Parts: sequence; C-alpha cells; structure tokens
Amino acid sequence: MELKTLFSPKKIGNVQIKNRIVRSATFMHIAEKYGFIGDRYLKVYDELAKGGTGLIITGAVAVDPTGTGGPYQVCLYEDSHMAGHKKLVDTVHEYDGTKIASQIQHIGRVGVHPKYQTIAPSPVPYKITGITPRELTTEEVKEYIEKFVKTGIRAYECGYDLVQLHGAHGYFLTNFLSPYTNLRSDEYGGTTEKRTNILRDIYNGIKDEVGKQFPVIIKFQSQDFIPNGINEDEGIKIAKNLSKIGFDAVEPSGGGAESILYTKGNITSKVVKKEEDENYFLPFAKKIKPILKDCALILVGGIRNPVVADKILTDGDADFISLCRPLIYEPDLPNRWKSGDTTPPKCISCNSCFTTMEKGPVYCVTKKNLEKN
Ligand SMILES: Cc1cc2nc3c(=O)[nH]c(=O)nc-3n(C[C@H](O)[C@H](O)[C@H](O)COP(=O)(O)O)c2cc1C
Repeated sequence: MELKTLFSPKKIGNVQIKNRIVRSATFMHIAEKYGFIGDRYLKVYDELAKGGTGLIITGAVAVDPTGTGGPYQVCLYEDSHMAGHKKLVDTVHEYDGTKIASQIQHIGRVGVHPKYQTIAPSPVPYKITGITPRELTTEEVKEYIEKFVKTGIRAYECGYDLVQLHGAHGYFLTNFLSPYTNLRSDEYGGTTEKRTNILRDIYNGIKDEVGKQFPVIIKFQSQDFIPNGINEDEGIKIAKNLSKIGFDAVEPSGGGAESILYTKGNITSKVVKKEEDENYFLPFAKKIKPILKDCALILVGGIRNPVVADKILTDGDADFISLCRPLIYEPDLPNRWKSGDTTPPKCISCNSCFTTMEKGPVYCVTKKNLEKN
C-alpha cells in the first residue's frame, strides 16, 4: 500500500516540511543540570531525524526559572542556553531537510518549585498538588508575555525552523485559556477572546521582532474534560481565534492530570472499533478544519495506522499527523513505513513511558522488558 499523501511535502507558513509526519513534543527529562542541552539529548534527536520524521517538535522548553519542571528540563530563558540549542538544530538539519521546532512553555499552576511560588492567572487550587497558585497582576502577565517573546526570539536566533507555544495539558498558557482556571476581569480574562489575548500578544511580539516568515504555531487545549472548563464549543471558538490571530498551525489536544489523560491508553488495534477510538482528537479536528484560514492542522493523539493516517490527510481532515509514544519505541518508524512495511507501531500505548517522566530519563519500559527476555 503506497502512502502517497503521508510522504508528500507540505508547507507550514513558508517552511517546507518533507512529509506529513510530525514528532509531537515529548519531554524526555534528559537535559544536563540546569537546563542545558548535552550529548544524551542530542542523541535522541539525531535518532529521530535519522528515522525520517519531517518535523520534530522538542519537548517543552522553559521560558523562565519559575516555570521549569525540574533541573533536567531544557531551558532557553537566557543567552547561555543558546549554544546547546544551536548544536541541536545543526544535528537535525544534517538529515535531508528535516525541520525542527522548539516548544516553549511555562509550567504555571502545575508547578512545584523549591525556590519559587507557583503562579497562575487566578488562585484556583490544583487538586494534584494541593497548591493554590499566586494570582499574577496585569503588569506581571505582561512581563511573562515578554519572557515567552524573548524565548521565541532566541529560538529563531538558534536556527529553529518554527516555534510552538505549549497551550495545552494544564500548564501556564492553558490556565489563561480555560474558564476553569482563569477568573480574571482584566484584558486577559473574561470572554473567549480575552482569554486568548495572552496568545495574541506572544504571537505578535515574536512576529514583530523576527518577521512574518518565521512560523509561530501552537498546541492548544481543545477540551478540559472538567466541569466549567473548556468544552467542545469553547474549543471551537478558541480555534477560530487562533486562526484569526494568524498562527501558522494548530495542534489540538486536551485533558490533563485533573481530568483525563492526553495520552489515552488501550488503543491497540484489538480494541479499536471506530476510527475515532484510535485517532481520539479526529472528531474535534474535523469540526475546526473548515474554519482555519491559512493555518495548518496537526492531528495528534493515537495515530497508529499509517493507512488510516494517509486517508485522513488525503480527505483533508488534517494537514499533518503527529506522533509521540510510537517514536519513543521506534524513532525510525517513518522510514519503516516509507520502505513499505506499513504494519502499525510496536508501541502498545501502555503509557509506561509516561510513568518514567517524573524521574527521567523517559524510555519505553515495554520495549526494555522485551529486550531483556
Ligand atoms: C513521555 C511523554 C512526554 C510528553 N511531553 C510533552 C511535552 O513536553 N509537550 C506536549 O505538548 N506534550 C507532551 N506529551 C504529549 C504528546 O505530545 C502527545 O500529545 C500525546 O502523547 C498523544 O500522542 P500519542 O498518542 O502519539 O502518544 C508527552 C507525552 C508523553 C508520553
């Protein structure tokens, strides 16, 4: 079976991606202390690029010391971090036009930091840690916008082809998007539009500085799956706003530790009855695709069957498909599919990789156990 569309090129903004396969951002917990890129990080990305992925999105990169998920998260909040990022970009660019985006993030309400107070748009307690974050003043929100902008500019200067804002899964930018965690009454809270204003200001801040040709894309919270949170209708409104702001691509995701996991388990072909059981954000993607203008749609979440993926792309329901867990097990999966072996990934979506995230480094426990036996 030839996977014509999956292996055809397409642009995001002005940047040509050699095929439609994206590595969705994956935090591997493998920076060097404190937040620097070293050899073990470069090795992971070298393997991914060698494996044929068209666009690699890095794991979440911190925009500020208050926003890290620990000492082994990559940072880009000061110039001293840049040398490692430049090496990373060069490593990936070695491989046949492979492109790389930096995913920039602040941990927001989810954070537990030995030195800093947890911050968020509003003081809504986080059930998992029991911490009530400190509410930012409007002036401080503007300062955090500036931190995202400066990090985005650094990403551009390091040679990244694109930058992605992490606006999903319950972190800082999601905290603004969601009516559950954003109770503000200033220009950054209230209506859907006002809750997306922070994204508008970051987008404009980066583009104004580096120029329109540098794509700014976003992974966003399409649904919180929580009462008073972002529901599907609200997610559609957010998507419309993101497209209006000018984002070059959107990657809808949803859920988080307080509701349901964005890494749905048990989606092996044995239990899948309908396409959406596997490609679990496809129904939402189909709803927003017609309203996106000059904005590519990256479909993430449970993409496992390359023939189905090719059909989704050919039907125009998405422009790219994005994979996380399968590439932890098999970084060379795209090349395997391209060579004609279209069997699904060896990943069984057991989320064993997810459980390694807290302590790191992230790896596939299932694969390791099989190799041992
Ligand atoms: C170990 C691990 C780390 C992840 N890190 C990130 C991250 O840094 N940023 C992000 O947006 N999503 C992150 N995700 C979510 C994935 O990008 C993706 O949205 C999710 O796993 C669904 O895709 P999949 O079914 O192909 O795994 C992570 C998931 C896993 C399993």
